[in-house]
Amino acid sequence: MSLLEQIDVSRLPRHVAIIMDGNGRWAKEKGKLRVFGHQSGVLSVRDTVEGAVKLGIPFLTLYAFSAENWNRPKLEVYALMELLVSTISKETKTLMENGVKLNAIGNLKSLPPRCIKQLNETIKKTSVNSNCTLTLALSYSSRWEITQAARSLALDVKEGKLEPADIDEDVFESRLSTAGIPDPELMIRTSGEYRISNYLLWQLAYSELYFTPKLWPDFRREDFYEAIFDFQKRERRFGKTSEQLYPNF
Ligand code: IPE
Ligand code: IPE
Ligand code: MG
Repeated sequence: MSLLEQIDVSRLPRHVAIIMDGNGRWAKEKGKLRVFGHQSGVLSVRDTVEGAVKLGIPFLTLYAFSAENWNRPKLEVYALMELLVSTISKETKTLMENGVKLNAIGNLKSLPPRCIKQLNETIKKTSVNSNCTLTLALSYSSRWEITQAARSLALDVKEGKLEPADIDEDVFESRLSTAGIPDPELMIRTSGEYRISNYLLWQLAYSELYFTPKLWPDFRREDFYEAIFDFQKRERRFGKTSEQLYPNF
C-alpha cells in the first residue's frame, strides 16, 4: 500500500506550515553556490503544493524569507528577490491549474517594488481559486507581527474604539496577518534544525512539530505525505488526559 493510501483523508490537518530550510547546505554539498540551492528548491515548492492540493489540504504556509534573512550577503538577498519574482510569475500557471489562491504575510512593504508588483498581480489573478490557500511568509518575523497587532489594538483603545477589557484571544488573533486562517495543526522543518526561527509563534501554540533531516531541495510530496502520516499517529491531548479523549479504551 502506498503512503498516500495509508493516509486517513477524514483526519487531515487543515493547515500545514513549513520552514523550507537547507538550500545552502544542499548546494555546498554539490560544490555549487548557495543560490543554486535556492533555485533547486523551487521544484520542491511546486511538488509539495501539488501534493497538498491532491490530498485536499486547504491551507499551506511556506516560510520563504525571514526578516532576519535581510542580514545575509547582499548578493544572496538580491538573488532571492529575483528568484521570488521569476518564480511567482512562472508558477502562476501551475497555481491556476491546481486551484491555488496565493496569499502573503510579513513586512511586505520592505520588499523591492518589483516583488510587490508581481506578488499583487498573482494574488489578484489567483483570488478566484478555492482548493488551497498558499501563504508565503516573506520578510516575515513573528515578533514583528505580534508587535504590529499590539500596536493596532493600542491605537483603537486610544481612539476610544475599543475597551482594554474587550481584548481577548480572538480579538488579538484578528489583528494578526493570519486572521481568518486556522492555526497550523502541523509544522514541518527540513534540514535537521530543531528551532522555530521566529515563525508563527502565536499560531504554532498547539501545532505538532515534525523535523526531517532532508534538505529542502530534496523534499518531495512523498516526504510531505510521510509527515502527515506521522502526524496522524499522534495523540493530540490539548492538556487533557488520554482517558478523557478515549473513554472506552
Ligand atoms: C532556506 O535555506 C532558504 C532561506 C532561508 C531563504 P538556507 O539558505 O537557510 O540554507 P542553509 O540553512 O544555509 O543550508
Ligand atoms: C528560516 O531559515 C527562514 C526560512 C526558511 C525562510 P534560516 O535558515 O534563515 O533560519 P536559521 O538562521 O537557521 O534559524
Ligand atoms: Mg537555513
